[in-house]
Amino acid sequence: MKKVLLCLALALLVAPSITMASDGAGLFVQKCGACHKRGGTAPSVNPADKAGVVWKKYFSRGRHPEDLAATINDAELETVILYLKAHAADSDQPAAAVIPK
Ligand code: HEC
Repeated sequence: MKKVLLCLALALLVAPSITMASDGAGLFVQKCGACHKRGGTAPSVNPADKAGVVWKKYFSRGRHPEDLAATINDAELETVILYLKAHAADSDQPAAAVIPK
């Protein structure tokens, strides 16, 4: 019985991080995909284009050529960066990313 309760507790702990990841995919497609899609104002972007550390610095050092303040808030950008890192070139699953089309 104790083991069952322990498993339940673990499942509840893990569940929010799974939701976070899908939020990241959704935000990435919705917010970044607003421009980065076929026929959009910018070329397609794939998390596997860069390594995880590069993604983090890309936004924190203001390397993105377009001002994103009107499109995405800080918390949303953080979530997207976690998603980009999870599917970055040096991640475990670079091919699993959902990419805006
Ligand atoms: C308002 C439109 C817009 C939004 C929203 C936007 N971008 Fe961009 N992005 C651009 C433009 C324009 C460029 C420059 C494209 C070029 O150089 O041809 C660019 C360039 C980039 C580049 C460099 C591409 C390269 O080949 O060097 C990356 C990476 C990038 N964006 C990632 C993102 C991510 C991730 C998001 C979401 C957090 C995002 N962008 C949201 C317009 C946008």
